[in-house]
Amino acid sequence: MAPPPNLANLGRRMARPYYVTTPIYYVNDQPHIGHAYSTVAADVVSRYQRLRGHPTYFLTGLDEYGLKIERRAKEENLAPQDFVDRMATPFRSTWEELDCAHDGFIRTTSAEHRESVQTLWKMMEDKGDIYLDDYEDWYCVGCESFKTEKELLEGNLCPIHQKPVERIKERSYFFRLSKYTQPLLDFFEAHPDFVQPDARFNEVKSFVKEGLRDLSISRTSFRWGVPVANDPEHVVYVWLDALTNYISALGGPAPKGIAPLYDEFWTSAETITHIVGKDILRFHAVYWPAFLLSAGVRVPSQIWAHGWLTVNGEKMSKSLGNFLPPGPLVEAFGADVLRYYFMREVGFGQDGDFSHRNLLNRYNGELANGLGNLINRIVASIVKKNLGGRVPRLRLDALEEADRHLIDKAKASACDAARHLEALAFHRALDTTWELVSAANKYVDTTEPWKLAKQGEQQRLEQVCYTVLETLRWLSIMLFPVMPNKCNELRSQLGLPPLLPTVGVDLWPSAWGGLGPGIETRTAGLLFPRFDESQERSILERLGVDKEPQPGLRAK
Ligand code: MSP
Repeated sequence: MAPPPNLANLGRRMARPYYVTTPIYYVNDQPHIGHAYSTVAADVVSRYQRLRGHPTYFLTGLDEYGLKIERRAKEENLAPQDFVDRMATPFRSTWEELDCAHDGFIRTTSAEHRESVQTLWKMMEDKGDIYLDDYEDWYCVGCESFKTEKELLEGNLCPIHQKPVERIKERSYFFRLSKYTQPLLDFFEAHPDFVQPDARFNEVKSFVKEGLRDLSISRTSFRWGVPVANDPEHVVYVWLDALTNYISALGGPAPKGIAPLYDEFWTSAETITHIVGKDILRFHAVYWPAFLLSAGVRVPSQIWAHGWLTVNGEKMSKSLGNFLPPGPLVEAFGADVLRYYFMREVGFGQDGDFSHRNLLNRYNGELANGLGNLINRIVASIVKKNLGGRVPRLRLDALEEADRHLIDKAKASACDAARHLEALAFHRALDTTWELVSAANKYVDTTEPWKLAKQGEQQRLEQVCYTVLETLRWLSIMLFPVMPNKCNELRSQLGLPPLLPTVGVDLWPSAWGGLGPGIETRTAGLLFPRFDESQERSILERLGVDKEPQPGLRAK
């Protein structure tokens, strides 16, 4: 018999701290599905890493300073601090509704954050990388970013916001970004996976190769920001302030002091992944590493740029009235189904469409007919009626070709899904997991356990049921990062406790036969009840979606 694993040693071997972050969201808007898409992705990553036994920290939060926020507060007749305090609530509650279990929630107006920004500034200044000069250029308040003439559309419009940019002329502190052109190119060379997807990395490299201009990093024309420590006439440029959130939330940069979280999840983390939208890649892949190289602070492992979601084929915007908050969708479908749809529908890294029609189709086709049906046929029907609801014994000596085939499929699928989840290829992980669901349904079709029961072939019936129940156990783990609640409900039907990720213990399935004999399964309501046509119509009506079929383009 193999010796029992030494959990203490295992813990040390597996203690590879993983840090995953979302962008911090501007509080000038209510949360929408674009924000939810990033946050769910980061939550899936963190749940997966925890399942593998790695210490994991998941950060999200709010970007509360800058001209854009100051102006929005004015429109609402509120002092900026009152305005941002009010806006923090809907973000917090949206992540709760979506079961995004973040460890940290950073707000840039906190005193700790302010201190971190000033410390990082000082570290860059001590390096000789900050100087004062006059500045004149175009500025887009929507992007909170300076624009070169070359970038502007006709009529001096910002290419992202399609709104006129403003001319800014003021005295400002500069960061010697130009000095970091070559160090950044060297860093990119040494870290070929720094930006994902690869095509986006190529864009970043081309931008840097053209040569970088020094960056204005302070403003004097408004007050709503972190003051520059020795010159409080200036506030720190909102992107320098915002990017610092990734370390301030951990208590960094802590040049002298002790900050345990910062030490574990920044300085000595195995992996630091920033998930961002493609529109803010340059800030993360060029400015942020340059600031960190200047300050002598470790640079993150990877910047993962995802694509943009349209809604039913159209760009999301308030004027089109298709600005989708996640709340009503969670109410209609539940958090897990929405999370599944986000991760399944669009290849991570590509643009894609959020289509209510596709969501319903995937729900009925994949969740209700695919996984739901597999669970019902076996747990609620055959096992309950013929085996007294109990898990039968696995007989390794009596495995038949069909059983072996499904077991091999489960092993290959778990292995591939893990590889894809490591690489944030969520849609691929779900593709391979669904191949297993289909294979298991096919296995039930061909082994016909209802016939075995009728013919009294008890031993074979038990074997077939065991094979499906154990496959379901594997699925309850493989799908946990995406659908944590449904997976725990499934586990309860299988008579298993909820999954409790523990540092140092790898819970990912790899050995066949973990389901013990004699466990009592439970039949509760359907995990994924099918929507009939009239239910679909009423959901769409409730959500205010046209009755016409949606175009719904798919990106894969
Ligand atoms: N505050 C900055 C980020 C600072 S991070 C140090 C910001 N905030 S934002 O609220 O405007 O956008 C946050 C994220 O939402 C971005 O990654 C952006 O790409 C994402 N999305 C906004 N609309 C989106 C879609 N329609 N689809 C997918 N993501 C989108 O930028």
